[in-house]
Amino acid sequence: MSQQDYIKICQDLLSQANQENDTKAEDLRVKYLGKNGLFKNLSALIKEVPNEQKKAFGQELNKTKSKIEEKLKEIEQQQKTTQAKIDLTLPGKKAKVGHLHPISQAIEEISQIFERIGFNRVRYPEVDFDYYVFEALNMPKNHPARDEWETFFIDTPAHEKMGKIVLTTHTSNGQVREMERLKSKPPIRMINVARTYRRQSDATHTQMFHQFEGLVVDKGINIQHLKGTLDYFAESFYGPGTKSRIRPFHFKFTEPSFEVDFSCHICGGTGKNCRFCKSGWHEVGGAGMVHPNVLRAGGIDPDVYTGFAFGWGVERTYTLKKGLNIDDIRLFYSGNLEFLEQF
Ligand code: DAH
Repeated sequence: MSQQDYIKICQDLLSQANQENDTKAEDLRVKYLGKNGLFKNLSALIKEVPNEQKKAFGQELNKTKSKIEEKLKEIEQQQKTTQAKIDLTLPGKKAKVGHLHPISQAIEEISQIFERIGFNRVRYPEVDFDYYVFEALNMPKNHPARDEWETFFIDTPAHEKMGKIVLTTHTSNGQVREMERLKSKPPIRMINVARTYRRQSDATHTQMFHQFEGLVVDKGINIQHLKGTLDYFAESFYGPGTKSRIRPFHFKFTEPSFEVDFSCHICGGTGKNCRFCKSGWHEVGGAGMVHPNVLRAGGIDPDVYTGFAFGWGVERTYTLKKGLNIDDIRLFYSGNLEFLEQF
């Protein structure tokens, strides 16, 4: 056999391999490189090659084998991807579906509870003027009552009338804004849910948290309306039988002012051996009858109209729900999916 001959038969085998397309890759491997495969037959021809050409033929064989190998790999790869595309019997890949963050769920639920009794959900700036956050709420500049709210101030020049810009420390900034929006014309039934910020961070406080603020202004509004609203919320959010309680307190923007408690669902309000509550009650937030100065700031005549207001933290209110008992609210903002997926 001459040199041209064996080069040609090597090339023939290669071009035959190169034309393979339809056969399964495993079968092709047997056909070409198997124990009794075409390549084996080809290499057996080395016996017929004159000694001085054996080396060159051997090299040619090696080249052919590695090219066939390459081709087979290519076919294998191709078949793998096309198989994946067309195998309709494979179970489908499920897209990962997330859900609303638990605090967003709580906000939805709280808003719906109030909307059911005619409150109007609004949202006011979370970065607002000192005027709406303090001044219009009967807390003049330098009043010590402001110390309650550990405030973040924005480093910008102060507005002549509205003062400095702050990160809202509470949702009460929505009160006078809502009166202005309604052109000082009651009735007002507002529920303002927003982010709030304070310089604080421990297991029960985060620097950013949420509050919801209720404001009702109309003729003849009194404390009974406030108490009725609190009872309605307590039962709707925590379940039948939950009671509310108001205790005298002091806020500059309400008179009289109260702290609001809900009865504990763990001990049924008895307080006996309960680690979760204070003598059967959980404190959730503040409330009161809107101070005449606040109504005036919103252009409403306090001799004609009265109102009540309340404001609580969403996180605090939510973690008291039955079955949750979350003792570190920072978990909500940890980005820990194992925690969040439980909701
Ligand atoms: N804004 C108060 C706070 O963040 C809570 C509050 C108390 C809101 C009494 C009210 C209210 O509307 O009437 O601590």
